[in-house]
Parts: sequence; structure tokens; C-alpha cells
Amino acid sequence: MKLSRCLLVLGVAVAGALLPVRTLSAADTVSPIPSDPAARIAVLRAEIAAHDERYFRAAAPVIDDAAYDALRRDLAALETAHPDLAARVPPLAPFGDDRTGAAPTHRHPTPLLSLEKSYDYDALRAFCVRTAAAPGVGEPAWVIEPKFDGLAVNLVYVGGRLERALTRGDGTVGDDITAAVRALPGVPADLPAVPGIALPAQLEVRGEIYVPWADFVRVNADRETAGAARFVHPRQLAVGTVRQRDPAEVARRGLRLVCFGVGTVAPADALPGSLRLRLAQLAAWGLPVPPRSWTAATADEVADAVAAVGRARRDFPFPTDGAVIKVDDLARQRALGSSESAPRWALAFKFPPDRVATVLLAITVQVGRTGALTPVAEFAPVKLGGATVTRATLHNREDLARRDLRIGDTVWVEKAGDVIPAVAGVDFSKRPGHAVPFVFPRACPECRTATEERAADAGPRCPNDQCPAQQRRRLEHFVSPAAVNIPGFGPALVAALVASGHAVRVPELYRLQAQDLAALPRVGPETAARLLTALETSRRAELWRWLYGLGLPQVGETRAKEWARRHRSLAALADAWPEHALLFRELAAAGVRPTPPPESAGPLAGQVVVLTGALPTLTRTEAAAAIEAAGGAVASTVTRATTLVVAGEGTGAKLEAARRLGVAVIGETELRRRLRGP
Ligand code: IVH
Repeated sequence: MKLSRCLLVLGVAVAGALLPVRTLSAADTVSPIPSDPAARIAVLRAEIAAHDERYFRAAAPVIDDAAYDALRRDLAALETAHPDLAARVPPLAPFGDDRTGAAPTHRHPTPLLSLEKSYDYDALRAFCVRTAAAPGVGEPAWVIEPKFDGLAVNLVYVGGRLERALTRGDGTVGDDITAAVRALPGVPADLPAVPGIALPAQLEVRGEIYVPWADFVRVNADRETAGAARFVHPRQLAVGTVRQRDPAEVARRGLRLVCFGVGTVAPADALPGSLRLRLAQLAAWGLPVPPRSWTAATADEVADAVAAVGRARRDFPFPTDGAVIKVDDLARQRALGSSESAPRWALAFKFPPDRVATVLLAITVQVGRTGALTPVAEFAPVKLGGATVTRATLHNREDLARRDLRIGDTVWVEKAGDVIPAVAGVDFSKRPGHAVPFVFPRACPECRTATEERAADAGPRCPNDQCPAQQRRRLEHFVSPAAVNIPGFGPALVAALVASGHAVRVPELYRLQAQDLAALPRVGPETAARLLTALETSRRAELWRWLYGLGLPQVGETRAKEWARRHRSLAALADAWPEHALLFRELAAAGVRPTPPPESAGPLAGQVVVLTGALPTLTRTEAAAAIEAAGGAVASTVTRATTLVVAGEGTGAKLEAARRLGVAVIGETELRRRLRGP
């Protein structure tokens, strides 16, 4: 597994529009994977926890599922090889936590588990054979269903009445989303009386909330018209909508429910002892169940059925990234039991990414907010994962040259994890005789300034600060949900602001008048008023969002948070950071008053601590946990935001940096003393 894959974040092209997906900056990323296994375990756990956070809470993953699963596999292999080390660091939750903190939470009557995953047919067959060999199982009957791609939900019916619906949460406790679930089509508030079947006193129904492809495309088209950012994947749309906690929006955007399992049922014999019959019973009560499922009796039949799902899934109206294989018989399921995180009677099979061939029509060059030039492949439209795709980024000039892509080539386009389209390869046998290698432009495609290349950059860049493309990208970044999040400021509006000269820099946004906005194309007085209100609200956005949104060199999300904790106001930042003082003062003068993070309590509150070298007794993870518990923040590199360096044996560059910047350096004994507090 190459960790570098995690750092590759592409623009996402869906139905022809290249989305600005946030790029991880150096400050956001964990430093190169260390060779020491204990440190590797800690780094991987932190990395995975960060991806879980993005996936479950923000529904905006920055790596695809296969790359994520590879991280998980790496960690599992290390933990198995070094059980002693693994036990010393706090464990990683078996899966993420989707609780938002904004909704009431409740305990699931029976915890919601995850599923083991496999990616190839050998692993699938091995699972079937292993399961059949388990005591008390014999040759089980298998059920195979599509794996719906949305968010897990647990519906609790008491006496036949929907009492509440919860997200997975951490598996034990989930967010209350009852109001949203009641707005889903076909979810009975009361289970109807069905002749011959008594209503269970308690019934937990497990399912998935998802958005069909057609609604995903429709919602995105509407958003495009409104100048709002598109959703990258239907799952993101489903999660984002449920979070809004507005039932009208749930219905308007076309969210759906599918039910595929049962948790607690009381009395225990209220439902049949077979999964298929149970689903038939749920359907009889009016609950939506998978429209199609397959059955199999042997490992080979299971593999055939999974392959059949793989072929059929292109025509499914709902997003799916795999198949789920389950033992049908409940008694056998009970005999197999569960591990801490997943049942032993089920397995998720993830399909390899979809691939289609198309013709490369052009290679264009995009200008990023820092002036970096990125080649983009423009190809004949192809259907991929439910959307029409016409573009994909090609990373950089070297990547393009190495792959020897030429206009006119037949290329394979794939959507990794059904999210990010990429050019997977060239079919050289189809290369037309006249195709010539692409020559990277020597001038910026937007402002025609000669490009420059500095050793530190990955490739050529436009050195012109005033380049309109850079100005647009910087403002797009600033207003994006990942940064200050200003609703209504989509790419079209930003382009109009820059083209008209009304706002080309962030401070100028805050000097806009209603008549400036109303003069722009497709902006009426009402829209202008709404935009001004959105700008007004954003003056008080969290300080770290401002710092991150301004796109200062080397300031990613992590560092922005560090600086926000430490300096707390634009005025303090202006003092601490002379090279940006003018900008901070200009913003303050324009009425910008960002909200500082809550004051943390504890003896190390406000401290930004960097650990370096081996401490005599504490591991790095233990030290970091203790510092955070005491209200401090732990950073990976020594910067001017650093207030303290804790050094052990064998330190080098960080100690050097601390000396240069005049940051206090202490050892473990002093750290322990400070942790205890005054
Ligand atoms: S069965 C004990 N069946 O995938 C878990 N899950 O990655 C029983 N999912 O937690 C789950 N489609 O949220 C099952 N046909 C299906 C599914 C499915 C999607 C989700 C579900 C599960 C997750 C695991």
C-alpha cells in the first residue's frame, strides 16, 4: 500500500463539471510513515481516524474506499505482528462515528455492527468454505444482496409503532433522526395488522438511507443552476440531507430507505428463523426491502451470484459499491456469532472500480489557486457509476508524460470507489498514426504569463498573482464548505465577481454593496440581499476556517486550528505573523470578527506542543494523549505557533528549529510536572 495514495486528491468530474475538491496541503498530512512499528501503528490509527471523521461526519472522503481499506489492512497486519505494541496505544474504534453533536442521541437496543470486506473471488470462496466448516453450520443456504451505498439506519418499532430511528453513531449510540426517517417514502409510522402475524412488542429494523441516481443527478442540476456546489456522491447527498434535520428537504431530494436486517425482536419467535422470510415479513408490513436478491448453496454458486450482482448493478437505479453475502438461517447465524466489529455470518464483497473506454479529445491545463498548472483530460462523454463523465485530472506534467497520453488515444476511464474519475490507462493498440505527444504550455492558459518552475514545486506554475484564474480559485476555496462556507457563492458567481472586478480578493468581498451584486448577471435584488446576509454571517465564522480559507502558504486545516487556538483574534495574528499583518488588519477594518475556539481548560490549555525523540518512559502516543487531556494541542512540526517542545533522546531537526524560533524545550520529567498542573 502506498500511503501517497491518500494524498492524491483529484478534482472530480461529474457530468462535465470539474469540482473543486479540497486538496490536502502539506500541513494537513501526517509526515512520512515511520519505520518503527509502534510509531507506524500510532500514525496509521491517527490517519484512519481522520479519514473516518471525513467519511462519517463530513461524508466527504478524500481517499477512495480501496485506499482506505488498504490502510486498515496495513494496520491489522502490524497489530497482528506486534500485539504487545498494539496493546499499549489506545485502540481505534472498529469503525467511524457519525454522531454530529447536534442531535439527541440514544443507545441502540442491539449494537449496529459493520461488515468484513473482501475484494477478490478467492477471498470470497475462502470465506464461504471457512463458514461452512464452522461447528454447527454445515452447508448453509446463502443470500446475496446488492450493497446499498448510503448511511446505516436503525428503526425501532415498539408495539408496532415507529418509536425512533437512529444513525449508526459509534455502533452503540446513534443520533436521533426520527423526523427525517418519517419523511422517507414508504416508512410506516404504524405497522399494519397482517392476518396470522402478531405484531412484535419490540422490533429493530436495520437498513440504509440512500439517494437513487436519478435524484442525485436532478438535485445536482438544480444546484448548478443556483450556483451551489454539487454533491460528489449520492452518499454525501444522503448524509448531508439527513444532517439538515429538515423533513421537507428529505422528501424533496428523493431520499429512500431499504431494509435488509433485523436487530432485537421480542418475543424472539415473533419472526421466522430465516433472513429471506424475515424480509418477506418486513415487506408485508410495507417496509421497503431490496428489490432483488440471489440465493446460493455452494462457494462457487456464491461467486456466480456475486458476479451476477456485478453485471446487474450498472442498471440498478440506486448506488451500490458491492454485494453482501449472508447466511440465511438464523440458528446458524447465532452459531457463528460476531467479532467485536462484524458478524461472522456475513461478508461484503467490494467490486473493482467501473472501467469504460473512451477517446481523449483534448488535454487542457487548469490553473490552481497557488498558480500550479494541472493537466486535465477531456474525453468523449461516458456513463460511469450513474453519471456522465467528460473530464478527469491527470495529476501533473510528469504523470502525463510518463503515461504518454496523446490526443486521439483510446483511454480507460475508471471511477475509484465510484467517486473519483481517473484515466486508468491507454489502449496503445488503438493509437492513431498521427497522434503526437502533448507539449505542456510555457505560458499560463489564462493570463499568458510565462510559466515558472521552482525546485520546491511539483511542476510549472503561473507566477502572476493577479491571474484571474488564481483569483477565482482562491475565492472559490475561501467560500467553499471546507473553509468559511458562504452559501450562494458558487463558481459562477465567483467568476462574475472577478470578471467584473467587484471582488478579486477576500477583503473585497466584505466591501461589496447590494448594487454591486445586483449588477452581476442573474443576480436580482433578492439574491443580492441573501448574498449580503450570508457574507454578514461569515464575518463571525470560526477563526480557523478563516485562516484556512485565506489560503496562506503552508496553512492547512491542522495548522489553521493550531494558530486559531493560540492567537484567537485577527489582531493577535497580525502581531504574531508580520508578513500577513496587512491582510489581517485589512480584514479587521472590513468588520471581520472571526469566532475563536472555546477556551479549553486544563494545565496545558492554549499550548501547542511538539514531541521529538524517544522519551524515557512515555510512548509518543501516550504523551500526546496526556497533553491533549490536559487541554494542549499536539503538532507535528515546530513553527512559530509552537509554544513547547518536549524532547527525548535522539532528536535533531525539531530541536534545532525550536532553538532557532526560541521555543521552550523540556524533557519528560518537566512535562509530567506540568501535566499535574500548578
Ligand atoms: S447487512 C451486521 N445488507 O453496509 C450488519 N448491509 O459496510 C448487517 N449495507 O452496516 C448488514 N447494503 O449499513 C447489509 N444489503 C445489505 C447492505 C448493507 C448496505 C451497509 C450496512 C452495513 C454496511 C457495512
